[in-house]
Amino acid sequence: MPGTADSSLLDRIQARHARVGVIGLGYVGLPLAVEFARAGFSVTGFDVDGAKTSAINAGKSYISDVAESELGECVRAGRLNATTDMSLLGEMDAIDICVPTPLRKTKDPDLSYIVLAVEAVAATLKNGQLIILESTTYPGTTDEVVQPMLEAKGLKADSDFFLAFSPERVDPGNQQFTTRNIPKIVGGVGDASTKVAAALYAATVNHVVSVSSTRVAEMVKLLENTFRAVNIGLVNEIAQMCHKMDIDVWEVINAAKTKPFGFMPFYPGPGLGGHCIPIDPFYLSWKARQSGFECRFIELAGQVNGAMPEFVVERVIDALNEARKAVKGSRVHVYGVAYKRDVSDMRESPALDVIALLARRGAEISYTDPWVPTLPEATHSFESIDEADALRPLPDCVVICTDHTAFDWKTLVNSGVPIVDTRDALRAFTAPNIIRLSGRAAPVAAVN
Ligand SMILES: NC(=O)c1ccc[n+]([C@@H]2O[C@H](COP(=O)([O-])OP(=O)(O)OC[C@H]3O[C@@H](n4cnc5c(N)ncnc54)[C@H](O)[C@@H]3O)[C@@H](O)[C@H]2O)c1
Repeated sequence: MPGTADSSLLDRIQARHARVGVIGLGYVGLPLAVEFARAGFSVTGFDVDGAKTSAINAGKSYISDVAESELGECVRAGRLNATTDMSLLGEMDAIDICVPTPLRKTKDPDLSYIVLAVEAVAATLKNGQLIILESTTYPGTTDEVVQPMLEAKGLKADSDFFLAFSPERVDPGNQQFTTRNIPKIVGGVGDASTKVAAALYAATVNHVVSVSSTRVAEMVKLLENTFRAVNIGLVNEIAQMCHKMDIDVWEVINAAKTKPFGFMPFYPGPGLGGHCIPIDPFYLSWKARQSGFECRFIELAGQVNGAMPEFVVERVIDALNEARKAVKGSRVHVYGVAYKRDVSDMRESPALDVIALLARRGAEISYTDPWVPTLPEATHSFESIDEADALRPLPDCVVICTDHTAFDWKTLVNSGVPIVDTRDALRAFTAPNIIRLSGRAAPVAAVN
């Protein structure tokens, strides 16, 4: 009978009696599972990686944004456990799917992780269950791909079970905005689904924004990330332009952002990194192409951002050239390989491209990153050197790819080594050995 299933689940959610399952316990799933548990729900995390489920059951956190004390408290209180046994999904009242959504080599969406997770959910789907997809994906995934798989055995979405999409907007390393205080967008395949999914989040996070459909919710996330990719592409192009015109792009941006309206600062860098911004816009352009629409901004931003590692390498060549050195045989030391400041995540990190391009030209590469002790890439597997040893002996050039707050910039600048600064990490310094990504190095001045 319509209405019965949702009121019963709503009651269980409101009383915190609903059992919540989270599939995929990575950067998104683990913080979310802990928030559900902290909100009073009994939570089971599901992952194919037994090392992760064992760590959670032992109260150990492997995600820097998840405090071990909070995770441990939830585990000890019996509100959080983890398993690789997908057959237990049938015991859950609500299931959040947080598995990866990478691109194939052809830049087409790879939905294989979602499909595997949904197959597991479908195998034990029962009346009254709420299924929410959180993985970033193209508009239409929930109703075109997930819904038919779940309905295949005869249960109907929005009446027998509930189905919604809620994009994850977490920003790893951000201390101010976390899973709990980032507003949660929710769109169901029908009103009943939106209502129960919104209720689950309302019990867990500070603010919920309901939208009219799963497609709107899917598109919201892609608009947000495309907005970033395109604006970063614009500012990276401006940086290249400023370089040609001997203008310091960061000085320009810092002055422009004093405008109190109509301008939002984005910053240039060695290229895009992370699991979202370099990937998500291509989910959108792929889907738009199916409707005969070419997303020109996305393609152009992809080209500009993708060319930044090569631009950085040109700055290294310039720096070595000033010292009458060739790239081949020169020792180039990279500061920071994670994709952004103060995180260990190095997925899609542009530092890897900078390293590969320099290595291809015959440079001897080393690196320092307190967050990334080893680089497991097949082509350049090596270990981080302690910062204290990075300048002994002095390399021929240093490239700052990631501006971790732990780095000792003063010692680096004072060493006199040529430094290519792709992040404006050395904005407080004026020294002839600093080569900024764009604009001339300032005239020689004492460094204190
Ligand atoms: N990392 C971010 O900053 C971020 C932010 C917002 C949205 N997202 C999106 O969230 C989703 C997850 O990203 P993530 O960064 O947490 O990925 P992740 O790689 O850190 O974690 C994914 C987890 O899913 C597990 N997994 C894979 N297939 C599985 C399966 N069939 N069953 C159970 N577990 C499975 C993996 O073992 C892994 O632990 C992606 O769609 C991503 O685009 C990520």
